Amino acid sequence: MAKICVIGTGYVGLVTGTCFSDIGHQVTCLDIDKHRIDQLKNGVMPIYEPGLEQIVEQNVNAGRLKFTTSYPEGLQDAEFAFIAVGTPSSDDGEADMQYITMVVESIAQHLSHPIIIVNKSTVPVGTGDWVAELIVEKNGQNTPSFSVVSNPEFLREGSAINDFMQPDRVVLGSTDLEAAQQVAELYQALRAPIMITDLRTAEMIKYASNAFLAARISFINEIANICESLGADVREVARGMGMDKRIGPSFLDAGLGWGGSCFPKDVKALAYMAATRGAHPQLLQAVMDINQNQRKRAVTKLQKALGSLEGKTVGVLGLSFKPNTDDIRDAPALDIIRMLLESGAIVQAFDPQAMQASKEAIPALVLRESPYEVAKDANALLLATEWNEFKSLDFDIIKENMRGNVILDGRNIWYGQNLHEKGFTYIGMGVPSAQE
Ligand code: UDX
Ligand code: UDX
Repeated sequence: MAKICVIGTGYVGLVTGTCFSDIGHQVTCLDIDKHRIDQLKNGVMPIYEPGLEQIVEQNVNAGRLKFTTSYPEGLQDAEFAFIAVGTPSSDDGEADMQYITMVVESIAQHLSHPIIIVNKSTVPVGTGDWVAELIVEKNGQNTPSFSVVSNPEFLREGSAINDFMQPDRVVLGSTDLEAAQQVAELYQALRAPIMITDLRTAEMIKYASNAFLAARISFINEIANICESLGADVREVARGMGMDKRIGPSFLDAGLGWGGSCFPKDVKALAYMAATRGAHPQLLQAVMDINQNQRKRAVTKLQKALGSLEGKTVGVLGLSFKPNTDDIRDAPALDIIRMLLESGAIVQAFDPQAMQASKEAIPALVLRESPYEVAKDANALLLATEWNEFKSLDFDIIKENMRGNVILDGRNIWYGQNLHEKGFTYIGMGVPSAQE
């Protein structure tokens, strides 16, 4: 059992701290947001993540997990300090390091005993060295001994607890092999493959992994667009491709493309790092361009099907960037809604978890209480996020409620339900519209 302080209680930090406590460690989760910590102390989750509320409650009750805003309290006899705060994109794509800087300076200020600092956040390659220099700079010669270990996260929102408990691998990087091995021991109970390498390589593994996953999706979306012009079915193409062990079936779902707080910022950050060192990231640029273009294609498809968007009502099902999360960061749905509103359309939407945040982000958005309410008087219906509850709707009621008959299935979840036989004009992403 180790004593761990996790700094940052967002989608990454809160899951990481809670899961560490669930496998037996003593964890203090620290955040500068007092309201968030007060909520957590009252058992109220600041984010939606399936299963999180229960696992937090269990471990708080077992006395293994607590919350604080105080660095002295959080770092008191902690053997490890995990940094899990945001590294959002700056305008030019560079990772914004202001929060990491704030945390490292606070650690330096309150460091009174030897500790291992672990970078869980996704940080630019070279950050590990920079953290060590900053600690010494802030603390001067009487700095207690410390080491820095990179331990990037591979958590998917919506399945983050499972991804922590059953990782494909734990990646660790450090100049201090012994420190890396001590961090490896924290994960012992998971019996997962552990890879120990150097700091920069560990930091790069995270960026390269996310960029590759994003590239797969942009690849299948480009294939989808080509399928549309050639009358092939991209879902079947993906199925046939995926049977090749070298390709594999996952991350080949064509649709509106990727969003969230990770892929967009990580691909941009990697491209920025490359470009500023003269390594011309042509493929990464294309991956981002194709992804952005998918959102525009959706608007164009609606424009073509409706003749014009001016004054038309478009119903949107799903607002979060993917199912099983309330996260709307860079969500394709919101981008598309902004473009629809700019074209003079009226937009009404429903999402199981992300309605409030979306309304705050786009005040002109009309919220509806159910998918059937969203269909009311709509000229067109857009499926933006493939929540399970949207997968088998009663399309007779949808048809009755709608004013028009256009369905744009942004994630191809209704393909094969023969909606054209119910009188709909069904449009997918890379799949033949049955009318042809
Ligand atoms: C973020 C990135 O999304 C992810 O890619 C990266 O790997 C880790 O950081 P996330 O959990 O989504 O992960 O961050 P976010 O939801 O923004 O939460 C960050 C938390 O850190 C917030 O609660 C914020 O209040 C807190 N924080 C920020 C601090 O406690 N101290 C600070 O100095 C700054
Ligand atoms: C991702 C990585 O998977 C995870 O390892 C990393 O730690 C954080 O970033 P996340 O962004 O939470 O996780 O979700 P993920 O399930 O990877 O989906 C990312 C985006 O790709 C979503 O917008 C999703 O809708 C989209 N996607 C995913 C597709 O469009 N097609 C697919 O086949 C898969």
